[in-house]
Amino acid sequence: SLPIKIAPSILSADFSRLGEEVRAIDQAGCDWVHVDVMDGHFVPNISIGPLIVEAIRPVTGKLLDVHLMIAPADPYLEAFARAGADLITIHAEAGPHLDRSLQAIKALGRKAGVALNPATPVSAIQHVIDKLDLILIMSVNPGFGGQAFIPEAIAKVEQAKSLIGDRPIDIEVDGGVDPSNAGALAKAGATALVAGSAVYKGNDAATYAPRIKAIRDA
Ligand code: DX5
Ligand code: ZN
Repeated sequence: SLPIKIAPSILSADFSRLGEEVRAIDQAGCDWVHVDVMDGHFVPNISIGPLIVEAIRPVTGKLLDVHLMIAPADPYLEAFARAGADLITIHAEAGPHLDRSLQAIKALGRKAGVALNPATPVSAIQHVIDKLDLILIMSVNPGFGGQAFIPEAIAKVEQAKSLIGDRPIDIEVDGGVDPSNAGALAKAGATALVAGSAVYKGNDAATYAPRIKAIRDA
C-alpha cells in the first residue's frame, strides 16, 4: 500500500502571514499542502481561489492538494491547474457529470480526486474508479475547520480500500483528524490525512513539527 502522507490544511493558517505559514509546515515535515476552496454555495463558507494557489506555489515544492468545495467546478479547473495545483479534488455531489469533470482534470495533466460528503456512499465512485488518483472521505460536513470527527468515516475508508483493490489510489480523510483517530484511519486503509486545527491551532510555527510527528506516529 502507499506510504502515509500528512497534509496540513492552510484553512487554519494565519492568512496575514500565509507565505510564512506554508513555509513553516513545509520545513516542519509535512508531505502535502491541503488547500480548501469554498464558494459560499456548495458549502456555507467562502475561502480562497486560484490567486492564492498561485501565490503559495513558489513557496513550497510539496504537492499542492487542492480540495474544491465549489459547484460548478468545471469552469475553474483550468485556472487551478495553471495556478499550480498538482492534485485537484472535486466533490461527487457538486454536479451531474462527475466522469466529464475527471476527464477534464486528467486532460489538464493533473492528478484527479473525488471527495465524498459524510452522507454519500462509497459506491458513488464505483464507475469512475479507473480515472482516480485519490478518494477523499470527508469526516465532517465541509465548510469549516475545527469540527468534530464523524467516526463513520472509518467504515467508509475500509469500503474504499476494498473497492480500490490493488490500484495505486490514495485514500485521504479530511475533517477533525488528530492523533486520537489517525491510527484507526491508517489501519482502515487511509494513506493521506488532512489536519487543519490539529497542526495550525494557535499559529505557533514551533509547534508544527511535533504536531505533524504526533499524527504520523499515531
Ligand atoms: C473542511 C475542510 C477541511 C478542514 C479541516 O471543510 O475541507 O480541510 O480545513 O480542518 P480540521 O482538521 O480543523 O477539521
Ligand atoms: Zn479539505
